[in-house]
Parts: sequence; structure tokens; C-alpha cells
Amino acid sequence: MAFTYFFRDRLSLELIGKYVLPALTGQRYINIWDAGCAHGPEPYSLAIILRERMSPFAFRNVRIYATDIDPTGQFGRTITEGVYPAEELQRVPPAILQRYFVPTEHPGRYRVVDELRSRVSFIRHDLLSLEPIREGFSLIVCKNVLLHFNEQQQVAVLRMFHSALRAGGFLVMEQTQQLPDRLEHIFSRVTDQGQVFRKLHEQASRDVRDRDSVRCCRTDPPEQLSERSVAYGNYRC
Ligand SMILES: C[S@@+](CC[C@H](N)C(=O)[O-])C[C@H]1O[C@@H](n2cnc3c(N)ncnc32)[C@H](O)[C@@H]1O
Repeated sequence: MAFTYFFRDRLSLELIGKYVLPALTGQRYINIWDAGCAHGPEPYSLAIILRERMSPFAFRNVRIYATDIDPTGQFGRTITEGVYPAEELQRVPPAILQRYFVPTEHPGRYRVVDELRSRVSFIRHDLLSLEPIREGFSLIVCKNVLLHFNEQQQVAVLRMFHSALRAGGFLVMEQTQQLPDRLEHIFSRVTDQGQVFRKLHEQASRDVRDRDSVRCCRTDPPEQLSERSVAYGNYRC
């Protein structure tokens, strides 16, 4: 399993609550992409933060697309079942644990409640395909993933994220991930407290996509998205 746990990076979650959530209010559909989600603690932490601040009715409009290259082939099953050991839940505040997790028949293992599980779908996806899983996202979260890529790959993936965001959509990365200088004209920084950006310039995005769509970060031949992506649960892109 990849290194991750529930409520890792509390600051980013708080910044999403403070800066992103108010802008989502009133959107009919709130589509969120958690890219490089590992086996699920991050998208479920995000779901909890949203549910804490939204009515049950509004929360039904949220769909979190959790994607990962998933070298184990197990992430989809883990996320769909939503069962996690207590060690991965140590940072979860007790009141949140009580509200959103149910003890299973196996001691020390907890299941995420159905209300959250119904909002999160896993799709197996390679970010270096540079094919977005869909467009029109209100928020893309990508943390502790880009550091594995070289600079050219990072720029290409961030441009792909830009093209997948709706106008004014948000991008959130981990505290140590910088936005490359050459992308500063297509994203605006939302706060100095963390790596929260907002999409700018629809036309710039189209120009960039046209110019760079033929450049690929991998040396292997391009494949169809359907061959690179495997959907679990109810949603297939
Ligand atoms: C350290 S984990 C980060 C998990 C979570 N985002 C977090 O911050 O806790 C990095 C994840 O990136 C995924 N990953 C690495 N290369 C990828 C790629 N090309 N496309 C999609 N996911 C990738 C790994 O499989 C792994 O699950």
C-alpha cells in the first residue's frame, strides 16, 4: 500500500473548507478529482470535510473521482469496501470517527459509512497518459504525486489538470509542491497559507492544449483511455 493515512495534511483540508467550499455552493453538480489517491484515505478525508460543511441534500451532488495508477490492483476494491485498520485512522478526531466510521466484525477495523462511500468512485488511471478522466471539475486535488515526476512531466500533468477544470475551478497540492513559473499565467494563487490555485484563462488553456497535446511524457506508444482506465463502482468515465 502507498504511504497515506486519514487526515494527512490537515491544513490543506482546512483551506479547502475555507476557500473552495464557499465557491462550490450553488453548483448543481460538484465533481472532484483526487488524482493519486492511493487506497482511499485522502478522498474519504475530503468527503468528510465536505459532508461536515454541507447539508445531506447538497452533499448528494458531490462526486469524488479517486484515481491512481494502482500498482497493487487492490485500490479499487479497498475504496469500494471502505474498510480500514485503526492505525490509518489515528489522526481522525474522535467525534468524526464516531460519525463516519462503523466498527466491523473484525476487531481494529472500521468501515466508512455508506453516505460517504456512495460519493467516492475509484478509477484506475495513469496521470502520464495526459488524458483527463473527464472535464468540468470544480476541484482537483493532487498531493504527493507530482514529486515522482520530472519537471517536464509535472508541467504537462498540471496543464492537463487545467484543461479538466471548469472555469474558476480549484487545484490543491501539498505544501511543498510549487507551481512552475511558466504556469503562473493560467492559475492564480488563492492563499499564501498553502498550495491552493484557481483556474484562469479559458483561451490560454485551449492554446496550451493544442500546442502540447502531441508531446507525450512517456516513451511507450499512446494508448486509448479505455485501456489505461478501469472504473470501479457505479461510475465509468
Ligand atoms: C505517496 S502516495 C500519495 C497518496 C495521497 N495523495 C496522499 O497525499 O496521502 C503517491 C501515489 O501516487 C500514485 N502514482 C504514482 N505515479 C502515478 C501515475 N503516473 N499516475 C497516477 N498515480 C500515480 C502512487 O500509486 C501512489 O498511490
